[in-house]
Amino acid sequence: MFYSELPVGIFDSGLGGLSVWQQFTRLLPAEHTVYLADQAFCPYGPRAAAEIASRAEAITRFLLQKKCKLIVVACNTATAAAIAHLRERFTETAFVGMEPAVKPAAKLTRTGHIGLLATAGTLKGDLLEKTSRMHASHVQVHRQEGTGLVELVERGLQDSPRAVALLASYLRPMLQAGADQLVLGCTHYSFLINSIIKVAGTQLNIIDPAPAVAQRAKDLLQQQNLLHSNTGGPGRHQLFSTLGADALQRFVESLSQLPAGSSCSFARQAI
Ligand code: DGL
Repeated sequence: MFYSELPVGIFDSGLGGLSVWQQFTRLLPAEHTVYLADQAFCPYGPRAAAEIASRAEAITRFLLQKKCKLIVVACNTATAAAIAHLRERFTETAFVGMEPAVKPAAKLTRTGHIGLLATAGTLKGDLLEKTSRMHASHVQVHRQEGTGLVELVERGLQDSPRAVALLASYLRPMLQAGADQLVLGCTHYSFLINSIIKVAGTQLNIIDPAPAVAQRAKDLLQQQNLLHSNTGGPGRHQLFSTLGADALQRFVESLSQLPAGSSCSFARQAI
């Protein structure tokens, strides 16, 4: 087997990273993937950075046992808490991380007000501080913690009246301040876009980082000459949850946007 035929590892605290996984499998249908949802420890948002870093390290070891050629940290909270640690610890491994897209939002805004919805862990991370200072010092960033939203997505309630009500309470202040951009600073929130539109209509341009992260992973594979050739047929996807595979399987099957012919297997994996 060639190194390029090995899978790409993707992980998150739960189902949110599937927004990145979905974009990635669409962009590169021949790639094999291993997805790990750390649902036994979800949500990461309120946890201490050291605990998240230790989860990220253990998950990375598991993905490396599965021979992953690249690891995508499909979680803003884990990136903020752990990406520097992972890069130091696993010097041979390439990682793609994610941070809130305040840079494009600051470029696009016409009102000078942008909204950022993220977890507590992401909002207090140094990464966000640094990016905001570098790219968004000329605009006002309305930061809002999305308490409870991750749990709703995990329970498949992303389109529920409860999700719309919670989002309305979080978005109203930034809408009143004139925000015209909304940065989704947590991968779970990509699944809330329909509910966000119900609240904000067309006032907010929603910036979902998932396509850009998938593209970054593709660019990195390309640069390292590690893209899977298209000749082997559609990719195989192994999806694991540290809690139990049922909810993960139901959620993936509801996405129904997998490239034709690709196959998925689901299992529980204690880590
Ligand atoms: N989906 C994750 C993120 O992007 C984690 C959210 C959580 O577990 O609190 O931040």
